[in-house]
Amino acid sequence: MTFDVITIFPEFFSSILGHGLLKRGSAGGHVSIRIHDLRDFTEDRHRTVDDRPFGGGPGMVLKPEPLFRAVESLRQATPDGSKPRLPVILLSPQGRLFRQQAAEEMARESRIVLICGRYEGVDERVATALATDEISIGDYVLAGGELAAAVVMESVTRLLPGVLGNEDSPKQDSFSEAAANENGCSAARGLLDCPHYTRPPEFRGLRVPEVLLSGDHGAIRRWRRREAVTRTWRRRPELLEQAALDREEIEVVAELRQGAARSGIEG
Ligand code: ADE
Repeated sequence: MTFDVITIFPEFFSSILGHGLLKRGSAGGHVSIRIHDLRDFTEDRHRTVDDRPFGGGPGMVLKPEPLFRAVESLRQATPDGSKPRLPVILLSPQGRLFRQQAAEEMARESRIVLICGRYEGVDERVATALATDEISIGDYVLAGGELAAAVVMESVTRLLPGVLGNEDSPKQDSFSEAAANENGCSAARGLLDCPHYTRPPEFRGLRVPEVLLSGDHGAIRRWRRREAVTRTWRRRPELLEQAALDREEIEVVAELRQGAARSGIEG
């Protein structure tokens, strides 16, 4: 798949594209990441990309013309003259929240344009008449959309077939849709992952849970699911509302609720 990233900081991406998963994904031909300098789509001597906001106020707003020109240069017509569908995502704190499900949907696209917002904002006509979607990576404000674009690209690229050595491993993820049908950690959709351990079995007096050393795969599977549910219940209880739990997991939640109610009475 191809990502076309529109940014005023093209050099920002050299580090993440030169390391780890995105480097491997590109080298293996699974993903092509093309970085476009927004200033190349300006038409004035100063290569101006921003201007003062109408109505006053602090800061600068990214102008619409260079962004429209940039996207239109990427959306080439097909030989029959029709314009192919092209997802254009504006990264901004005003967007809908980016979740694993959105990453899975994006991984099915052949091409996505990412627009990195900057400064105090982006002219609203970019959101309403150019972008097909507006996405936020979390309820905090970054200086611009570059980090958010990197987050989106890495989380989507690792889902592309062949990028991770083990084809099955994304299915084990917390939040993964496919996880619902798998054995192991995040067996139920929308739960946090269970804890993981490696050697040594004891480190500074901290022991790996005995069950993981037992070789009893049924018991290990049950332990992992219980841990995933318990962690989710403690740390992200709102996820349990949406999670598709099976009978075993529903029982774990019921036990946790009973335990909490009891300690409430005792306390
Ligand atoms: N730009 C600034 N903050 C952002 C956020 N939280 N998500 C996406 N893009 C952003």
